[in-house]
Parts: sequence; structure tokens; C-alpha cells
Amino acid sequence: MKVAVVGATGMVGEVMLRVLAERNFPVTELIPVASERSVGKTISYEGTDYKVVGLETAVSMRPDIALFSAGGGTSLEWAPKFAEVGTTVVDNSSAWRMDPTKKLVVPEINASELTKDDKIIANPNCSTIQLVMALNPLHKKYKMKRVVVSTYQSVSGTGVKAVRQLENEIAGVQGEMAYPYPIGRNALPHCDVFEENGYTKEEMKLAREPQKIMNDRSFSVSATAVRIPTSGGHSESVNVEFENDFDLSEVRRLLNETPGVVVQDNTDTNTYPMPIYAHDKDEVFVGRIRRDESQPNTLNMWIVADNLRKGAATNTIQIAEYLIEHGLV
Ligand SMILES: NC(=O)c1ccc[n+]([C@@H]2O[C@H](COP(=O)([O-])OP(=O)(O)OC[C@H]3O[C@@H](n4cnc5c(N)ncnc54)[C@H](OP(=O)(O)O)[C@@H]3O)[C@@H](O)[C@H]2O)c1
Repeated sequence: MKVAVVGATGMVGEVMLRVLAERNFPVTELIPVASERSVGKTISYEGTDYKVVGLETAVSMRPDIALFSAGGGTSLEWAPKFAEVGTTVVDNSSAWRMDPTKKLVVPEINASELTKDDKIIANPNCSTIQLVMALNPLHKKYKMKRVVVSTYQSVSGTGVKAVRQLENEIAGVQGEMAYPYPIGRNALPHCDVFEENGYTKEEMKLAREPQKIMNDRSFSVSATAVRIPTSGGHSESVNVEFENDFDLSEVRRLLNETPGVVVQDNTDTNTYPMPIYAHDKDEVFVGRIRRDESQPNTLNMWIVADNLRKGAATNTIQIAEYLIEHGLV
């Protein structure tokens, strides 16, 4: 496979290159792509040096697959140009997620929707992916009515500039700000931009994407997204109201049996998911599983995953692997 990684110099792009190598993705030629600022830089992949090229050059090289993580504007403009020359694009930005003509895929849940005609495929938002990985098996069994989620998101979710802001603050150095306020020793109830309804774009992604991925409009999601000074790994406090009652040990068993989900839940040993444990792992970790005692059929849990891996790079590459395994590319 001739594989273009668009945004190869970014946070997600770097992890993408690592995950491609780790999973022995069948790369015969790598095309690292970034902005004009980075053209000519060298990227090392599996012991070979590759020069970063611009988007125009990359399209002319007609890759089989292009893995995009270079922002929504770049995807909107360039994904169709790759698709036109026969490249299948898997896109990490929010550009195509809610487009009814594009699939929004978490492979463990809905990869079977993919066909040869899907030339631009959307990867869900990082905090959505870890949420639906845990919700899907529970919804199938108990039928969800309503989900209330509050996120505790790391600065790596914003990109290179935000990681530098936190590092600068820790080192006491003045530098460029990714956020309107300091992030160290702080919590910002503000992820992505505000929309007219008073929610942020990140909150609305959490509210809208799960129904599309799970192909079910019968439940609703309400979200509050908060940025905290963690360098990597997003955490979520999740409250789920089901139509049917559940048994806590069965909930743990269902989650544990779900590929890609790991239960870490033992209050006797202070065992619960944390970003430092999830770091560099592909699994979604679930713990603090308990009954909401304030109303019937309602569950509380805590979900953590590495936003750069299952939240972005790993999910994208799993989609690409599915396409190859099923002869769709
Ligand atoms: N971080 C996460 O947890 C996460 C999770 C899921 C999805 N995403 C999405 O993935 C995308 C990238 O996120 P990131 O965190 O990796 O950001 P980042 O660290 O800021 O990296 C951005 C990348 O895009 C490239 N780029 C920017 N403008 C470009 C242009 N006009 N043409 C070509 N390349 C361009 C940059 O190249 P230069 O180095 O040359 O500037 C860099 O390689 C975003 O759409 C984001 O929403 C991020």
C-alpha cells in the first residue's frame, strides 16, 4: 500500500506513524504530508528517511490510502481531491463526521457498514470513541435512554501548541498561548469553540456522534467538556439511564468481554482507570462502575483512553486495516 499520512508532523500524525509500524501495516511507500512550513523536512519510518511533501505533490503521487489529521479546513479542501484520484481517505477532523453521505466509524461497532464506494471515511471525535466503546455493549443489553457525560480532557487533544503551552507554564517560560487562559493549575470548561446554543463544539460532537456510530436515534447525550492540565489521556465521568435494570457484575462482565475494553474496577485496591495507565495503550479503560442511587436503572462509570491512540491514530488505522482485509481498497 502506498500510504499518505497528512499531518505527519503533528501530534496525531506522529502517533499514526508509530502505530502503522507497530501493527506492521503493509506500507510499501510512505508519503508524509504537512503544511508548506514543513515541506522538505525528513521523517524517519521503519529505518528509512522520507521527505515531507505538500498536499499537491501527495495527490499527484496517487496513494492507495490517505490518513488525514491536519485540521478540518485541510480535510474539506483536500480529501475530495485525493478521492478523485482513487485514494481512500480516513479523516480525523470533524469536517465529514456528520455529513450524511459519509460513514463515521469505530471498527468494533460499525465497520461492517463500509463498502468499496466509501472514498472519504470519518474517524469520530476522540472523546466520542472512548465513550461509545463502553456504551455500545451496555446499550445492546439494557437499552439506553439518556447519557450525561463530563469530560476531563488532556492538552494533547488540542495539538502541539497546547502541549507547549503547558510545558512552558510548568517551566515558568513565557510563550505562545493555545488557550485564552493558563492551563496549568486550572480547568477550562471550554474545549473547541462555543456554538450559538451555549455548548462548545466538542460538547455537541459528544451529543451527536454516538447515535450515528451506533445507528440508533432512540437515546440522547448531554455533555460538558473540560480541559485539564494532563498531558495525555482523556477521562470521562458518565451517567447512563437505561430502560431496563442491570446487574453490576453482569455490566462488568459485558464490558470485559468487549474487544478493546478493559475493566479496572476494585475499590479495595484503589484500582480505577487513570490517564497515566492508559498512556500509549490502545484499549479503553472503564472503572468506578456503580449504581446511581438517585434514580432507577441508572449507572455511573469512569472511562479513560489515550486520545492520540484509540481516540485518533489507532482507530484510523483499524479502519484502514478493515478496508484492506475486506478488499475494499
Ligand atoms: N490531538 C488529538 O487528540 C486528536 C484526536 C482526534 C482528532 N484530532 C484531529 O486531528 C487533527 C490534527 O490534530 P493534532 O493534534 O495532530 O494537531 P497538530 O499537532 O497541531 O498537528 C497538525 C498537523 O497538520 C498539519 N497541517 C496544518 N495545516 C496544514 C495545511 N494547511 N496543509 C497541510 N498540513 C497542515 C501540520 O503541519 P505543520 O507541522 O507543517 O504545521 C501538522 O502536521 C485535527 O483535525 C484534530 O481535530 C486530534
